[in-house]
Amino acid sequence: MPWNRRHLLTLEDLSLAEITQVHTTAAAFKRTLTRSVKKVPALRGKTIVNLFLEPSTRTRMAFTMAAKRLSADVISLDSSSSSTTKGETLRDTAQNIQALQADMIVLRHSAAGSPLYLSRILNIPVINAGDGAHEHPTQGLLDTFTMQEHLGRLQGRKVVILGDILFSRVARSNIHALTKLGAAVTLVGPATLVPHWFTELGVKVSHDLRSALADAEVVMLLRIQHERQASGHFPSLGEYTSMFGLNKTRASWLNPKAIIMHPGPINRGVEIDSELADGERSVILEQVTNGIAVRMAVLYLCAGGQPELVYAGPDPS
Ligand code: CP
Repeated sequence: MPWNRRHLLTLEDLSLAEITQVHTTAAAFKRTLTRSVKKVPALRGKTIVNLFLEPSTRTRMAFTMAAKRLSADVISLDSSSSSTTKGETLRDTAQNIQALQADMIVLRHSAAGSPLYLSRILNIPVINAGDGAHEHPTQGLLDTFTMQEHLGRLQGRKVVILGDILFSRVARSNIHALTKLGAAVTLVGPATLVPHWFTELGVKVSHDLRSALADAEVVMLLRIQHERQASGHFPSLGEYTSMFGLNKTRASWLNPKAIIMHPGPINRGVEIDSELADGERSVILEQVTNGIAVRMAVLYLCAGGQPELVYAGPDPS
């Protein structure tokens, strides 16, 4: 099936076939990253602007690496060094970037819907790198890609997402991808952060950590997002940790083969103890590495590349 999208705004929009298309293309690019020459000429002559108006380490670095591996020129602009500090609007900033002949914008912004807004104004592709508490589509794609590497097909697989679901764009994107891939998803956490209405998205909601962990094959921890919580949804971080933090005792309730995931950044000792984050079940750094190939796939496809043209054979040099 050809890829017909110029923008990647949400995983809610994507069909199962499109999610699979990204994963297949990412797998081909991942093979190119094991060669002695890791660059491919796919986007030579294109300029990609990373417009990150909210902090980021993993997503911004991975998009930069992905663009460079595709031979694109890449320029990064953040909120502290842009004229947004002087009051320039997002619309004006983006239109100026387009006037400077960028071929694509990767946007991270605290406002939900800002990538959709830019996609309606600009003539170039817009990639959502995280918009408020709405979606983080490339994170959902790299998380499901990583799960498939460990579990194979996700149809019927039991995935627990634990923590601050209400404010999590990562949770929303994962819910959309996982349910389309056929996984059985259970959201766990305090009722204030995991309200019952999430069941409308085709997932289970539980506040009983022990029973949810008992048959999980994947447990994904989410960070407590202080920056998005206008009022307290639990009494204190210590109380959250005592009820829902993943520690060695609670990890012993898991299936011995279960993998532990976290999109980062980690609050060590809050949602997860260090010995588990760094332990042998953890695939947290694999998620980060897979972020490069998945973002190469997204940039390539949204720039008009066709998946069957990705050369993933031996190093041609
Ligand atoms: N997972 C994630 O979005 O991390 P960053 O905020 O560091 O990009």
